[in-house]
Amino acid sequence: MSDYSTLIAGLSVAQQAALGSGASFWTTKAIGTIPAILLTDGPHGVRRQSGAAGDHLGIGASEPATCFPPAAGLSQTWDPELVQRIGVALGEESVALGVQVLLGPGVNIKRDPRCGRNFEYYSEDPLLTALLGAAWVHGVQSRGVGASVKHFAVNNAEHDRMRASSDVDDRTLREIYLRAFEYVVREAQPWTVMCSYNRINGVYAAENRWLLTTVLRDEWGFDGVVVSDWGAVRDRSAAVAAGLDLEMPATGGVTDADVVAAVTERGLDPAVVARAATRVARLATRANETDATARSFDADAHHRLAREAAGRAVVLLKNENDLLPLAPSALAVIGPFAQAPRYQGGGSSHVKPTRVDIPFEEIRSLAAGHQVTYSPGLATDSADDAEALRADAVRAAAEAETAVVFLGLTAEQESEGYDREHIELPTDHIDLLRAVVAVQPRTVVVLAHGGVVRLAPVADLAPAILDGALLGQAGGGAVADVLFGVVNPSGRLAETVPVRLEDTAAFLNFPSENGHTSYGERIFVGYRWFDARDLPVTFPFGHGLSYTRFDYSDLELVEGPEGVTTRLVVTNAGTRAGREVVQAYAALPGSRVSRPPRWLVGFAIATLQPGERYTVEIPVRRKDLAYWDVRQDRWVVESGEYAVSVGASSRDLRVDATVMVGGDDTAVPFTGESTLGEVMADPVAAEVATAVLAAAGPAGVSGTALGVDLLRMVASIPLERMVGFSGGRITRAQLDELLAAVNAARS
Ligand code: BGC
Repeated sequence: MSDYSTLIAGLSVAQQAALGSGASFWTTKAIGTIPAILLTDGPHGVRRQSGAAGDHLGIGASEPATCFPPAAGLSQTWDPELVQRIGVALGEESVALGVQVLLGPGVNIKRDPRCGRNFEYYSEDPLLTALLGAAWVHGVQSRGVGASVKHFAVNNAEHDRMRASSDVDDRTLREIYLRAFEYVVREAQPWTVMCSYNRINGVYAAENRWLLTTVLRDEWGFDGVVVSDWGAVRDRSAAVAAGLDLEMPATGGVTDADVVAAVTERGLDPAVVARAATRVARLATRANETDATARSFDADAHHRLAREAAGRAVVLLKNENDLLPLAPSALAVIGPFAQAPRYQGGGSSHVKPTRVDIPFEEIRSLAAGHQVTYSPGLATDSADDAEALRADAVRAAAEAETAVVFLGLTAEQESEGYDREHIELPTDHIDLLRAVVAVQPRTVVVLAHGGVVRLAPVADLAPAILDGALLGQAGGGAVADVLFGVVNPSGRLAETVPVRLEDTAAFLNFPSENGHTSYGERIFVGYRWFDARDLPVTFPFGHGLSYTRFDYSDLELVEGPEGVTTRLVVTNAGTRAGREVVQAYAALPGSRVSRPPRWLVGFAIATLQPGERYTVEIPVRRKDLAYWDVRQDRWVVESGEYAVSVGASSRDLRVDATVMVGGDDTAVPFTGESTLGEVMADPVAAEVATAVLAAAGPAGVSGTALGVDLLRMVASIPLERMVGFSGGRITRAQLDELLAAVNAARS
C-alpha cells in the first residue's frame, strides 16, 4: 500500500475518515484530488438509478439495462467462458451508464433451499461457484469496472440477516463457505469485497478482524477495498480497526465524526484510518482511469448474448419417449408465465430490462403455420374465475397436439429480505397440470423459480420437463429454441432437487434461533449430504438431459505437481450436435477425516457433432483434493489412492479409475495428550513405542478376563495417563523421552 499513500498526502484525519463512507446511496465522496465513484447493483444487470437524489433507499426506477440470467439460471450453464463474456457485457453497460463498481458476483453457498436469495447465488457446490464467480469478475474488470464479491461471508439466509450469527466450525468454513471467496480473490483480484450483514461465530462480518484482515488480506493477499453491505456497519471505528475501508451508503457524516473521535479520544490508531483512506483513494483513482467515453452499449448484441446464455441454462429434467424436441404443430400454451414471464428475482438485483421476450410469441413464431393458442389456466386476480380459466386451458390442451404448461413461483413468493417456509409449487399450479395431463398425454412443463422447488408432483405427472430457474430477459426466446430443438439443451442442475424438504442437510438448523444459526451439518451441504446419507433425490446435482446421447470411455488419470490430469474420451453417439458438461468427482476411501462419498473436482464442456469423439481433459488441482486440517490450520492433501469418477451428473457416473497421490501431510508431533491408539497407528512411532512400552507396561493383565479387546480399549488412553496407570513403571521423564524418540524417528 505504501506506493499509494501519496494519494492521501495532506489530508486531515477528518478528510481521511470522510473518504471511508458514502456521499449518497450509491456514490463515494470527492475529496481533494480524489474523485468520487459510483457503485451499483449487480449482479446480473446494471441497476443504475437515475433519480438518486430523490431516493434515499435505492429502490426507485433505474435505467434500462440488459437483464442477463440471474445466478440461479446462469449457473446451470456450468460455463465459465460464457459467464466471462457476460461479465464483459456487464462491464460495457456499466461504463455506458457511468458505473465504476458493479456489486457482484454473489458467491454464497446455497445451504438450504429456503433461503430467499438463492436465486442470486450460483450453487450448493463451492468449486462450481468459485469458477463461475471468478469468470464474472474477470469479465467485468476487463472493461475497467470494479467487481464486488459478496456477501463475505457465511450469509446463507435472509431471516434476521442483519443480526444472526452463523456458527460454523473452521473446517466447514474453509472447505465450503470461504472457498469460492478465496478462489475468486486469488485468481481474479476483485477490486472490492463486500462484507455481509451477519455475524460469523458471534462477530459481525464488518468488525471481524480475522475475516477481513487475517484471512482476506494476510492469507489470500487481497489488496482492494472492503466495502460494507449497505447498512452492515454497527460500529464504524471497530469496523475500520478490523479492516473495513468503505462504509456504504452515506451516513450524513455521523460515522466519519465517530472515527475521528475514536482517534482523538479512544486510542484508535490513525494509521488504520489512513490505510483505509488510501485504499479507497486507490480504488477511486483506478476507476477513473477507465476510458468512460462510451455513452451507449449494443443492446441488440447483449440481448442475443442473454438469449444464448438462457439457452444454455435450460435444463431438460425429463423427456419420456423423446417427446421433445417438438415439431412445429398445433400447440396449447398454458399459464400466465407464458405471457408475463418470471425471469428475475426481487430486491436489490432487480433490473429494468431493455426488452423482454414473451415465451408465447416466441413459441408461436417457431411454430409458424400451425395453430398456437394461449390460455392463462390460473387465476392471477381475485376477480378471475379460476374454474373457468382452468376449463378453458384443459379444452385447449385437448384440442392441440401438445400442451406446453408454464409453472413456477411468482417474484413475491421468494425474494431478498425473507426466506421461504416451504419449497412447494402453488397448489393451483399442480391442479392445473393434473387436469391438463388427464386430457393431453403430450404435455411439457416449463418451470420458472429462483429457489429449488419440490418437483416430485410434477415429475409424476408430466412426461417432459424443462427447468429454466430464472432466465433473464431473453428467456422466452431461449425456451422456444429448446422446445423446438433449435438449441439442444445442455444445462445442468447446480443444486439438488430433494424428494422432501425434510431430507435436506440444514432442515433442522434453518433459519436462526435466538440470533444463532448452527451449521451442524458441517461440510455435508447439498449432494455431499444426500450422498453421505444415501438419500433418494428427485433430480441429482449436475443432472440434465440432451436430445443426443454421449458415451464416456478411456479414462486415464495422471498425477503431476499441480494435481491430477483427468483425460477421457467423450463420443456423441446420437444424431444431433450437442454440448455435454463432463463432470469429475473425487473420493478418498479411508480418509483420516470425514469426507463425502464424492465431491466435484472439475468439469469441462464438450461440444460435439453426431458421431464425433473428443478427448476431454479436466485438470484437478491439488487444492481441490485437500481438506482443511484444524490441528495445523492449513490445507492438507492426504497421501492415498483417490478414486475419480467422471459422468453426466453426481449420480450418473460412467467411468472411474484410481490414482495414487503423494500427500503433503507432515507429521503432527505427538504430545502427552496423544493417545496410545494414535501412536500405534503410525508405523514408525509404533515401532519405537512398542519397544519402550513392552519393557514398562502393566504386567499380567489380559483382556480375556474383562471380556474386552484390551488393545482397542486402551487405545483411547492419552499417553500422559500411562504414568499413573503403569503404577510407577513409566515415569513422566521416561514418557518425555519416549515422545522425543518417537517424534525424532518420524521427522
Ligand atoms: C444487498 C446487497 C446490495 C446492496 C445495495 C443490500 O441490501 O444485500 O447485495 O448490493 O443492498 O443495493
